[in-house]
Amino acid sequence: MADRLPTGIASVDALLGGGLETDSVTEIYGEGGSGKTLFCLDVAARVARSGRWVFYVDTEGVSVDRLRAIAGEDLERLLKRVLVSTPKSLEEQGRAVATADALARDRKRPVGLIVVDSATFYYRLSLSGSDEDEARQALSLEVADLVVTALETPVPVVLTNQVWRNPREGTLEPLGGSFLNHAAKTILWFDRLPGPRRRAVLVKHRSLPEGAAEFRITSTGLEGPLPPDRSATSAPPARERT
Ligand code: GTP
Ligand code: MG
Repeated sequence: MADRLPTGIASVDALLGGGLETDSVTEIYGEGGSGKTLFCLDVAARVARSGRWVFYVDTEGVSVDRLRAIAGEDLERLLKRVLVSTPKSLEEQGRAVATADALARDRKRPVGLIVVDSATFYYRLSLSGSDEDEARQALSLEVADLVVTALETPVPVVLTNQVWRNPREGTLEPLGGSFLNHAAKTILWFDRLPGPRRRAVLVKHRSLPEGAAEFRITSTGLEGPLPPDRSATSAPPARERT
Protein backbone atom coordinates (compact mmCIF):
# COMPACT_ATOMS: atom_id res chain seq x y z
CA MET A 1 0.00 0.00 0.00
CA ALA A 2 1.22 3.51 -0.78
CA ASP A 3 2.43 5.56 2.20
CA ARG A 4 0.01 8.19 3.41
CA LEU A 5 0.42 11.77 4.63
CA PRO A 6 -2.33 12.35 7.21
CA THR A 7 -4.17 15.61 6.62
CA GLY A 8 -5.12 15.89 10.29
CA ILE A 9 -8.82 16.15 9.34
CA ALA A 10 -10.07 12.87 10.81
CA SER A 11 -13.09 12.38 8.55
CA VAL A 12 -11.07 13.09 5.39
CA ASP A 13 -8.22 10.84 6.54
CA ALA A 14 -10.73 8.03 7.11
CA LEU A 15 -12.14 8.63 3.62
CA LEU A 16 -8.62 8.47 2.16
CA GLY A 17 -7.53 5.36 4.03
CA GLY A 18 -5.16 7.34 6.26
CA GLY A 19 -4.32 10.44 4.23
CA LEU A 20 -2.84 11.65 0.96
CA GLU A 21 -0.88 9.06 -1.03
CA THR A 22 2.75 10.09 -1.05
CA ASP A 23 3.60 8.54 -4.42
CA SER A 24 0.94 10.19 -6.54
CA VAL A 25 -0.85 13.41 -7.37
CA THR A 26 -4.08 14.32 -5.56
CA GLU A 27 -6.47 16.71 -7.27
CA ILE A 28 -9.08 18.72 -5.38
CA TYR A 29 -11.73 20.52 -7.38
CA GLY A 30 -14.70 22.56 -6.28
CA GLU A 31 -16.50 25.87 -6.50
CA GLY A 32 -15.07 29.09 -5.13
CA GLY A 33 -15.24 29.07 -1.34
CA SER A 34 -15.45 25.28 -1.09
CA GLY A 35 -12.30 25.17 1.05
CA LYS A 36 -9.60 24.05 -1.39
CA THR A 37 -7.09 26.70 -0.33
CA LEU A 38 -7.84 26.30 3.37
CA PHE A 39 -7.29 22.56 3.01
CA CYS A 40 -3.91 23.13 1.32
CA LEU A 41 -2.88 25.65 4.01
CA ASP A 42 -3.96 23.29 6.79
CA VAL A 43 -1.93 20.39 5.40
CA ALA A 44 1.02 22.69 4.62
CA ALA A 45 1.07 23.95 8.22
CA ARG A 46 0.94 20.40 9.50
CA VAL A 47 3.86 19.34 7.30
CA ALA A 48 5.90 22.43 8.27
CA ARG A 49 5.22 21.77 11.97
CA SER A 50 6.66 18.29 11.52
CA GLY A 51 9.95 19.88 10.42
CA ARG A 52 9.60 19.25 6.69
CA TRP A 53 9.50 21.80 3.90
CA VAL A 54 6.56 22.73 1.73
CA PHE A 55 6.78 24.18 -1.77
CA TYR A 56 3.55 26.13 -2.33
CA VAL A 57 2.81 27.44 -5.82
CA ASP A 58 0.16 30.09 -5.24
CA THR A 59 -1.62 31.60 -8.25
CA GLU A 60 -4.43 33.23 -6.29
CA GLY A 61 -2.84 35.00 -3.34
CA VAL A 62 -2.58 32.96 -0.16
CA SER A 63 -4.28 34.75 2.70
CA VAL A 64 -1.60 35.37 5.29
CA ASP A 65 -4.44 36.12 7.73
CA ARG A 66 -5.80 32.62 7.17
CA LEU A 67 -2.36 31.11 7.55
CA ARG A 68 -1.87 33.11 10.75
CA ALA A 69 -5.20 31.81 12.08
CA ILE A 70 -4.11 28.24 11.33
CA ALA A 71 -0.53 28.64 12.52
CA GLY A 72 -1.16 30.74 15.63
CA GLU A 73 2.06 31.53 17.45
CA ASP A 74 3.94 29.21 15.10
CA LEU A 75 3.52 31.57 12.11
CA GLU A 76 7.08 32.89 11.84
CA ARG A 77 8.56 29.44 12.33
CA LEU A 78 6.20 27.86 9.78
CA LEU A 79 6.77 30.56 7.18
CA LYS A 80 10.47 29.67 7.17
CA ARG A 81 9.56 26.18 6.00
CA VAL A 82 6.77 27.06 3.55
CA LEU A 83 8.35 28.33 0.35
CA VAL A 84 5.66 30.28 -1.46
CA SER A 85 6.03 31.04 -5.16
CA THR A 86 3.53 33.43 -6.77
CA PRO A 87 3.69 33.01 -10.57
CA LYS A 88 1.99 35.63 -12.73
CA SER A 89 1.49 33.54 -15.88
CA LEU A 90 1.23 29.92 -16.96
CA GLU A 91 4.85 30.13 -18.08
CA GLU A 92 5.99 31.35 -14.66
CA GLN A 93 3.85 28.65 -13.06
CA GLY A 94 5.74 26.08 -15.13
CA ARG A 95 9.05 27.45 -13.85
CA ALA A 96 7.81 27.41 -10.25
CA VAL A 97 6.73 23.79 -10.60
CA ALA A 98 10.12 22.91 -12.12
CA THR A 99 11.79 24.46 -9.05
CA ALA A 100 9.51 22.44 -6.77
CA ASP A 101 10.37 19.26 -8.70
CA ALA A 102 14.10 20.01 -8.42
CA LEU A 103 13.91 20.70 -4.66
CA ALA A 104 12.00 17.49 -4.02
CA ARG A 105 14.42 15.48 -6.13
CA ASP A 106 17.77 16.78 -4.90
CA ARG A 107 16.81 15.76 -1.35
CA LYS A 108 19.06 18.40 0.22
CA ARG A 109 16.06 19.47 2.30
CA PRO A 110 13.37 17.20 3.66
CA VAL A 111 10.54 18.35 1.39
CA GLY A 112 7.21 16.99 2.68
CA LEU A 113 4.65 18.46 0.29
CA ILE A 114 4.18 20.26 -3.03
CA VAL A 115 1.00 22.30 -3.51
CA VAL A 116 -0.16 23.97 -6.73
CA ASP A 117 -3.17 26.17 -5.89
CA SER A 118 -4.70 26.60 -8.40
CA ALA A 119 -3.19 24.51 -11.16
CA THR A 120 -5.73 25.81 -13.66
CA PHE A 121 -6.12 29.53 -12.91
CA TYR A 122 -3.83 30.74 -15.75
CA TYR A 123 -4.84 27.81 -17.92
CA ARG A 124 -8.47 28.92 -17.67
CA LEU A 125 -7.51 32.48 -18.62
CA SER A 126 -5.85 31.22 -21.78
CA LEU A 127 -8.79 29.06 -22.89
CA SER A 128 -10.57 31.81 -24.77
CA GLY A 129 -7.43 32.97 -26.57
CA SER A 130 -5.54 31.73 -29.59
CA ASP A 131 -2.91 30.00 -27.45
CA GLU A 132 -5.31 27.39 -26.09
CA ASP A 133 -3.41 24.38 -27.47
CA GLU A 134 -0.14 25.77 -26.17
CA ALA A 135 -1.66 26.26 -22.73
CA ARG A 136 -3.05 22.73 -22.67
CA GLN A 137 0.34 21.36 -23.61
CA ALA A 138 2.14 23.46 -20.99
CA LEU A 139 -0.24 22.32 -18.26
CA SER A 140 0.06 18.68 -19.35
CA LEU A 141 3.87 18.78 -19.29
CA GLU A 142 3.89 20.43 -15.88
CA VAL A 143 1.48 17.88 -14.42
CA ALA A 144 3.40 15.00 -16.04
CA ASP A 145 6.58 16.19 -14.29
CA LEU A 146 4.71 16.37 -10.98
CA VAL A 147 3.44 12.82 -11.49
CA VAL A 148 7.03 11.60 -11.92
CA THR A 149 8.26 13.62 -8.93
CA ALA A 150 5.56 12.12 -6.69
CA LEU A 151 6.39 8.66 -7.97
CA GLU A 152 10.15 8.92 -7.54
CA THR A 153 10.29 10.82 -4.23
CA PRO A 154 8.45 10.50 -0.91
CA VAL A 155 6.78 13.87 -1.61
CA PRO A 156 3.01 14.00 -2.17
CA VAL A 157 1.62 16.54 -4.62
CA VAL A 158 -1.71 18.34 -4.23
CA LEU A 159 -3.24 20.27 -7.13
CA THR A 160 -6.38 22.33 -6.86
CA ASN A 161 -8.67 22.77 -9.80
CA GLN A 162 -11.56 25.02 -10.67
CA VAL A 163 -14.91 23.92 -12.05
CA TRP A 164 -17.12 24.72 -14.99
CA ARG A 165 -20.81 23.97 -15.37
CA ASN A 166 -21.66 21.49 -18.06
CA PRO A 167 -24.87 23.04 -19.45
CA ARG A 168 -26.07 19.85 -21.10
CA GLU A 169 -25.66 17.60 -18.05
CA GLY A 170 -26.20 20.31 -15.43
CA THR A 171 -23.12 19.06 -13.57
CA LEU A 172 -20.02 20.72 -12.19
CA GLU A 173 -16.93 19.43 -13.93
CA PRO A 174 -13.23 19.94 -13.20
CA LEU A 175 -11.15 21.90 -15.72
CA GLY A 176 -8.03 20.57 -17.37
CA GLY A 177 -9.59 17.87 -19.53
CA SER A 178 -8.99 14.17 -19.46
CA PHE A 179 -5.21 14.44 -19.05
CA LEU A 180 -5.47 15.93 -15.56
CA ASN A 181 -8.21 13.44 -14.77
CA HIS A 182 -5.90 10.53 -15.60
CA ALA A 183 -2.76 12.03 -14.08
CA ALA A 184 -4.31 12.48 -10.63
CA LYS A 185 -4.64 9.11 -8.93
CA THR A 186 -6.85 10.56 -6.18
CA ILE A 187 -9.57 13.07 -7.04
CA LEU A 188 -11.61 14.85 -4.38
CA TRP A 189 -14.57 17.12 -5.02
CA PHE A 190 -15.23 19.68 -2.30
CA ASP A 191 -18.93 20.48 -2.15
CA ARG A 192 -20.41 23.45 -0.31
CA LEU A 193 -23.04 22.67 2.31
CA PRO A 194 -24.89 25.33 4.33
CA GLY A 195 -22.78 27.58 6.54
CA PRO A 196 -19.27 26.39 7.33
CA ARG A 197 -20.03 22.77 6.44
CA ARG A 198 -18.32 21.14 3.47
CA ARG A 199 -18.33 17.66 1.98
CA ALA A 200 -15.29 15.96 0.50
CA VAL A 201 -16.39 13.47 -2.14
CA LEU A 202 -13.89 10.83 -3.21
CA VAL A 203 -14.50 10.76 -6.95
CA LYS A 204 -11.51 8.60 -7.89
CA HIS A 205 -8.96 6.49 -6.02
CA ARG A 206 -6.70 3.63 -7.06
CA SER A 207 -7.62 1.33 -4.19
CA LEU A 208 -10.61 2.75 -2.33
CA PRO A 209 -14.31 2.88 -3.16
CA GLU A 210 -16.08 6.15 -3.82
CA GLY A 211 -17.38 7.83 -0.68
CA ALA A 212 -17.86 11.12 1.09
CA ALA A 213 -16.88 12.77 4.36
CA GLU A 214 -17.96 15.98 6.03
CA PHE A 215 -15.73 18.64 7.46
CA ARG A 216 -16.23 22.28 8.45
CA ILE A 217 -14.38 25.54 8.26
CA THR A 218 -13.55 27.05 11.65
CA SER A 219 -11.66 30.16 12.66
CA THR A 220 -8.48 28.12 13.11
CA GLY A 221 -8.65 25.73 10.15
CA LEU A 222 -10.61 22.70 9.04
CA GLU A 223 -12.19 20.16 11.36
CA GLY A 224 -13.81 16.85 10.54
CA PRO A 225 -14.45 14.73 13.58
CA LEU A 226 -15.43 11.14 12.99
CA PRO A 227 -19.12 10.42 13.67
CA PRO A 228 -19.82 8.38 16.81
CA ASP A 229 -20.03 5.09 14.88
CA ARG A 230 -16.63 5.98 13.31
CA SER A 231 -17.96 5.29 9.83
CA ALA A 232 -16.96 8.59 8.28
CA THR A 233 -17.64 7.50 4.77
CA SER A 234 -20.97 7.28 3.02
CA ALA A 235 -22.24 6.86 -0.48
CA PRO A 236 -21.20 9.80 -2.66
CA PRO A 237 -23.94 12.29 -3.47
CA ALA A 238 -24.81 13.02 -7.08
CA ARG A 239 -22.88 15.93 -8.53
CA GLU A 240 -25.99 17.30 -10.13
CA ARG A 241 -27.15 20.78 -9.40
CA THR A 242 -30.63 22.19 -9.88
P1 GTP B 1 -11.44 29.57 -4.72
O1 GTP B 1 -9.97 29.76 -4.54
O2 GTP B 1 -12.16 30.86 -4.90
O3 GTP B 1 -11.80 28.58 -5.79
O4 GTP B 1 -12.05 28.99 -3.32
P2 GTP B 1 -11.45 27.89 -2.33
O5 GTP B 1 -12.14 26.60 -2.60
O6 GTP B 1 -9.98 27.90 -2.35
O7 GTP B 1 -12.00 28.40 -0.94
P3 GTP B 1 -11.18 28.81 0.35
O8 GTP B 1 -10.36 27.68 0.84
O9 GTP B 1 -10.50 30.09 0.10
O10 GTP B 1 -12.38 28.95 1.40
C1 GTP B 1 -12.89 30.16 1.74
C2 GTP B 1 -14.17 29.86 2.52
O11 GTP B 1 -13.86 29.85 3.90
C3 GTP B 1 -15.21 30.94 2.29
O12 GTP B 1 -16.45 30.30 2.09
C4 GTP B 1 -15.19 31.72 3.59
O13 GTP B 1 -16.47 32.20 3.90
C5 GTP B 1 -14.78 30.66 4.58
N1 GTP B 1 -14.09 31.21 5.76
C6 GTP B 1 -12.96 31.96 5.76
N2 GTP B 1 -12.63 32.25 7.03
C7 GTP B 1 -13.54 31.65 7.84
C8 GTP B 1 -13.70 31.57 9.25
O14 GTP B 1 -12.95 32.10 10.06
N3 GTP B 1 -14.77 30.83 9.72
C9 GTP B 1 -15.63 30.22 8.88
N4 GTP B 1 -16.65 29.52 9.37
N5 GTP B 1 -15.50 30.28 7.53
C10 GTP B 1 -14.47 30.98 7.02
MG1 MG C 1 -8.56 28.97 -3.40
